This record gives sequence, C-alpha cells and structure tokens, in this order.
Amino acid sequence: MTPSNSLVLVLSYSFLFFLVIAREGHTLDRSIEAHHYHTLELSSFLPSSICIPPTKDAKKQGSLQVVHKHGPCSTIKEDMVKPLTVEEIFSHDQSRVDSIHSKLTTITTTGKKDTKTSKATIPAKSGSTIGSGNYIVTVGLGTPKKDLSLIFDTGSDLTWTQCQPCARSCYSQQEPIFTPSSSTSYTNISCTSTECSGLISATGNTPGCSSSTCVYGIQYGDQSFSVGFFGTEKLTLTSKDIIDNFYFGCGQNNQGLFGGAAGLLGLGRDKLSVVSQAAKKYGKVFSYCLPSRSSSTGFLNFGGGGASTGVKYTPLSTSQGSSFYGLDLEYIIVGGKKLAISPTVFSTSGMIIDSGTVITRLPPTAYSALSTAFKAQMTQYPLTKALSILDTCYDFTKFSSVKIPKISMVWGGNTIVDIAASGTLYANGISQVCLAFAANGDDSDLAIFGNTQQKTLEVVYDVNGGKVGFGNGGCA
Ligand SMILES: *[C@@H]1O[C@H](CO)[C@@H](O)[C@H](O)[C@H]1NC(C)=O
Repeated sequence: MTPSNSLVLVLSYSFLFFLVIAREGHTLDRSIEAHHYHTLELSSFLPSSICIPPTKDAKKQGSLQVVHKHGPCSTIKEDMVKPLTVEEIFSHDQSRVDSIHSKLTTITTTGKKDTKTSKATIPAKSGSTIGSGNYIVTVGLGTPKKDLSLIFDTGSDLTWTQCQPCARSCYSQQEPIFTPSSSTSYTNISCTSTECSGLISATGNTPGCSSSTCVYGIQYGDQSFSVGFFGTEKLTLTSKDIIDNFYFGCGQNNQGLFGGAAGLLGLGRDKLSVVSQAAKKYGKVFSYCLPSRSSSTGFLNFGGGGASTGVKYTPLSTSQGSSFYGLDLEYIIVGGKKLAISPTVFSTSGMIIDSGTVITRLPPTAYSALSTAFKAQMTQYPLTKALSILDTCYDFTKFSSVKIPKISMVWGGNTIVDIAASGTLYANGISQVCLAFAANGDDSDLAIFGNTQQKTLEVVYDVNGGKVGFGNGGCA
C-alpha cells in the first residue's frame, strides 16, 4: 500500500465515521423531539360526524364499550338532549369539583377546616354532581335482559336506573324505562338488611322504609337526584360477565342532568359499588379506556385478565374518603423539563382520579408553573382569550399542523405517564385551543385527575392490590 493510498483510506474511514456520527446524532435529536413533543394536524380538532368502530385488536375481548355521551358513537341520540355549550360543560364541571371538595372537608380536633393537619375525612351530605363531559356504557338488566345506557362514574358508588312506575317523576331517557314487575329476577331489599344500612356510606343519606322495603335516595351537587326502592337484579355486563343479585337503586323519582342516560354505574370504592359487588369474581380489578373523541369508542373491563403488559403502576392511596381513588402525584414534566415546584405542593393537596371531572384540577401554584412552562415552549403561536376555566389558549387558524410540548405526570413510585395530545388541549374550534388543565381555588384543595387527561390511557384499578396502572394507547 502506498502512503497516498493509506491516507485516502484513513480519510475515507474518518469520513464514514463522521457520517455515522452525524446520522446517529440526527436520529437522536429526532427521537428526543418525538419524546418531548406532539405534532398535531389541525384537522384533529374538528368534530367528526361518523362513529369509527374499534379495530379488532383494539377491541378487548369480553369488554363493554365506553362512548362519549354526546356524539356519533353514543347510544343516546342527539335529539334526546340539547347539546351543552362549552360554558355549560365547564360550569357543570366546576359544580362537580366543588361538591367533591365539600365531600372531603377535613376537620381538625378544634373543628376548624385545615387540610395541613391530620386527614380525618367526613362525607358531607351533598354527593358529587353528574357533570356533563361524561361517558356511558350499555349494560343489561333483568330477565329477560333489557339494555340500559348508564353514566360511567368512578366518583360514586350506588348504581341506579329509572324504574316504572315513575311514582313522582322520570326524566326522558333513550331506552324504555326499566319495569321491575316485568322481570323474573327482581327482588326488593328489606329495611333491616345490612345492605340497606350500607346505603349510608354509599349515598351519604340514611335510607327510608316503605312497607318494609328499603328506600334509597341520592342527590348530586347540581340538584340532580334519584329516589326509589332498593332491590337486586341480574346484571349482565357482557355475555360472560353476569352478576346475579346485584344491589341497585330502582328509581321512581328522578330528576336532573342525566342527559338521556337511564341512570348511573357506580365504580367507586365503597362496599355497594359494582366493583365491590363483583369482587368475588373479579377481585376488585377493573380497567377502562376513555376514547380521544366522541367519534371513537373505548372499553370497560372487569377482572385483571385483559390488562396490557405495558401498564405501569402507582400505589393507590385511600386517604381521600371511602369512595374516591387517591393517587400521589410527585411532579409534572413539560416538554422534557421538570416543573420547578416543591413536591410538598402535591402532598399537601392530595389527588384523586375521577372519570366524571372533565378538566384536571391542580393546586394554583402547580397550575401556574405548568401554564408558564407550556407558554414558554409555545411562543411561535398567538395567544387568545380564555375559555371559561381554561386561561392558556391559542389561535391556530393560520397553521395546518402544530407542535406542542408533551406533558407527563410522574406518580408515586416514579411512574411516568405521558398525557396524550387529545388530553393536553381542549379545542373550541381551531381559533381557540386551550391547555386543558385548571387551577383549584386554593393550594389546600384536593387535586383531581380528570377524564380529558385520561383519554386513550388504559387505566387499571387493582383495589385489593392497592395500585392503579396506566398504559399508553389503550384505545383510539
Ligand atoms: C317492592 O316493594 C314495593 C313497596 O312495598 C311494592 O310496591 C312492589 O310491588 C315490590 N316489588 C316486588 C317485586 O316485590
């Protein structure tokens, strides 16, 4: 080999090496980009009028379909209920948050409200409100089985449906109202049964008694209520998931913002919730996925069989009352940067996960840091006016696609969960697209992980195992 040849070789090797470095560096940058940002087509903010059914592998075997109450996939037709305005949705959402807060007023030995000291929680009379950004599932009740679309609620316990005869009043619902006298499996519950007494913790109200039949009453923070006989029925969740003698409310006096749904499916932690009643069969394990849009479907699954392998768990905290599922939030990451706030901000407020609250509520100190960090990475887009409780809003009219920083919640046990793009922004048309988080009134108020932020996550509740898990891409 001549010296000039070897020089060429060395040079070409170093050139190759340089090329390799450059390419690797490039892919590295791109993967960091993809890791810290979502790129979105603006068309994804526009509503769709067609229901996209789940794909075969996305559809979990033997699970219930979860759909948004309003929209093309809903079993409740649009003419059944007047669609709510964005302002109405957020005002109902605030009532739900207020009633959750009032349910968890903490008291000290001196009787003063003080959340910094020992957390003795007392349930107040008012229940949580039904809210309006809600999801529904269709279950079968009775023999022969009748299909009923129920509001899906992890924030309350009693399952109830409107029943004939509507002694006082029934609101209009999509399906025919359930008639217990036409079912061979309906039974009344006696006033002296332990389940009747169990209504005190499940509803916050002392049950009544009429001709020795137990009478339940439950009211929600927005003046909605259901009153009726407490009974048992055969509950058919799926063809394989049937609960005989399921305790439920057969409501003969019902009023409120249930929007055409036949009642409510209570998925809380109390003894009377469907989760507890199905415990023998499913070990208090259930999972769901809330779809990203009203034109797609999610799922609700009982039992642990179906949970995906990618699900990461965080301990379940039980210090937030007997119904709610508590979680420990450690910190928040925005576009790859950890928010610089003291971890005591979250440990002071505490947090629950709730399927019925639309927008995640954070301690004001944390929200303000989140909004500032988000804005700092969104300087290329023009800000616009606030949308009700959402104050960090953008006008995307002049763009065809946008790049937004990814938000990750870091839960206890260092469980990092990326929020989907659909859970990060709330669009009121493309001229007003807002960061979908809001501040509580005070740093001591309980924080709530709401249903917008849960979109497309597979959320697994393992109550006996004391943990809640999250997996990305659970549904579309
Ligand atoms: C349940 O109890 C109520 C009140 O006593 C009664 O009107 C109704 O007929 C009972 N239903 C059944 C199936 O026993």
